[in-house]
Amino acid sequence: MRRIALAISAVCLSVSGVAAADDPVAVRKAIMQANAASAGLAGAMMKGELDYNPAIAKAAILTLNASAKSFGDFFPEGSGDGDTTAAPAVWEDAEGFQAALDKYMTDTAAAVEASGKDGPADLAAFQAAIGPVLGNCRSCHENFRVQNN
Ligand code: HEC
Repeated sequence: MRRIALAISAVCLSVSGVAAADDPVAVRKAIMQANAASAGLAGAMMKGELDYNPAIAKAAILTLNASAKSFGDFFPEGSGDGDTTAAPAVWEDAEGFQAALDKYMTDTAAAVEASGKDGPADLAAFQAAIGPVLGNCRSCHENFRVQNN
């Protein structure tokens, strides 16, 4: 439970209505929504829609890393039915899914490392740090998510 609580507080989510133990689908979707919010912030800074801010950049990277560490805990057997876009491959190719999770953890950890204490110094440093992380979104979704949006 502590790990779950930490991950969730790290991504600033309010999931008080979600009973984590009972509804792993809702938790993993909430984690992915936090991923999307962080990727959105990163994209806005890279496009110049938002002024570059090292603290925001670091928060986005830390959120992605926290999500990478916790996401894999919410795919118990039998949670592939219902209101989910997780593909059957998550369970049928559990090794491949774990490899995708491991790569995501490695890439986000490297980005945390590159962020230093105060966040990446400038936009170029941020792009270099987060670029490899963002490649994981598509590659994992292609293999482990039903493409319905
Ligand atoms: C290791 C695999 C993996 C990685 C990496 C990954 N995702 Fe996902 N993502 C999934 C799976 C599986 C689902 C389906 C979850 C479900 O519906 O149960 C999903 C669902 C989502 C959703 C829909 C959530 C909802 O409310 O239905 C969004 C948005 C999303 N991902 C964004 C991202 C972004 C942005 C990144 C990269 C920063 C990312 N994902 C990286 C596997 C991954």
